[in-house]
Amino acid sequence: MSTVRQALQFALDENGGTIPFDTFMGIALHHPQDGYYTQNVRTIGGRGDFTTAPQLTPALGEAIGQWLQGEAEQRGWKRFNVIECGPGSGALAAAVTKSFGWLGRRKLDLHLVETSEPLRVEQQKRVRGTWHPTVEEALVACEGRALIYHNEFLDAFPCRLFRKESEGWTELQLKVIEGKLQEVFLPPTRPLPVSTVFAREWATGQRIEVFKSVRDWMRGMAGSWKQGAMLTIDYGGKAEEIYHRRPGGTLRAYRSQERLHGESVYGLPGRQDITADVNFEDLAMWAGELGWETGTLKSLAELAPDARGADIFRCISFAKL
Ligand SMILES: C[S@@+](CC[C@H](N)C(=O)[O-])C[C@H]1O[C@@H](n2cnc3c(N)ncnc32)[C@H](O)[C@@H]1O
Repeated sequence: MSTVRQALQFALDENGGTIPFDTFMGIALHHPQDGYYTQNVRTIGGRGDFTTAPQLTPALGEAIGQWLQGEAEQRGWKRFNVIECGPGSGALAAAVTKSFGWLGRRKLDLHLVETSEPLRVEQQKRVRGTWHPTVEEALVACEGRALIYHNEFLDAFPCRLFRKESEGWTELQLKVIEGKLQEVFLPPTRPLPVSTVFAREWATGQRIEVFKSVRDWMRGMAGSWKQGAMLTIDYGGKAEEIYHRRPGGTLRAYRSQERLHGESVYGLPGRQDITADVNFEDLAMWAGELGWETGTLKSLAELAPDARGADIFRCISFAKL
């Protein structure tokens, strides 16, 4: 039995035979010894399980480079710290630094936040910088002053998954039935997370995802971030866009470039990516709680018209003044 399967079995035993979906996703993707991201991701791109925009063209990196220049100029920063969270293959960081040119590159101190050993090795082949296991540690190294960006990073965080019932909400739990992990929806045993979704009207049966762990991540870094801006790019948007004609929600897995739904999401824990769309209204609300200034939610096409999937991706910026 793989270490991830053993950890899942342990969690199931500890919880009386069912585990909340976010516990499953956290173990499958981030188990320290055997999680998909921590150990088993081979690479990102054509030879990996999924491809992201930076693998295909430098357009996104160039647009982020311009955003960084603008933010630094606005603050009068001649030399500045840049933190990329979840750099994947390192292709984005390479395109960003290249966009500064040989001279401009000296203005920038690059910090990379990565928990994946195999991906850190790939990144180190492509860029020079300082690696940190958490954004808090990166911020401390930058004395709290930094421009931060990330692409397809938040969607790798564990999410909680709910279903609208005629009376209230149930939460997705997983249980072993006939030797396989299967879905069961039960009344939540924990408080509902803070999210914009619960105040909306939904049809009965609608499934929605809430990235409570992202709110925790934002709250965790808030104390160490003193000044700067953050650019967030991901799949998703406003709740009404994300769930339009998607009563089943947005949960999916990727393996060898194939998009998997339903039971296949649970098939090979630790050996495939699992993800869902990011609700940017939640991000804005959680940033507001922390006193961060939130920019307008945009289509990525407005920032990087030539990036792959620019019309599908969304971006938003936050400022810590
Ligand atoms: C979907 S990949 C995106 C890669 C890259 N940004 C790109 O656009 O190609 C997610 C990245 O985030 C990293 N990651 C996921 N969760 C993380 C966490 N909690 N802390 C740091 N890195 C994380 C993964 O190892 C991987 O590098």
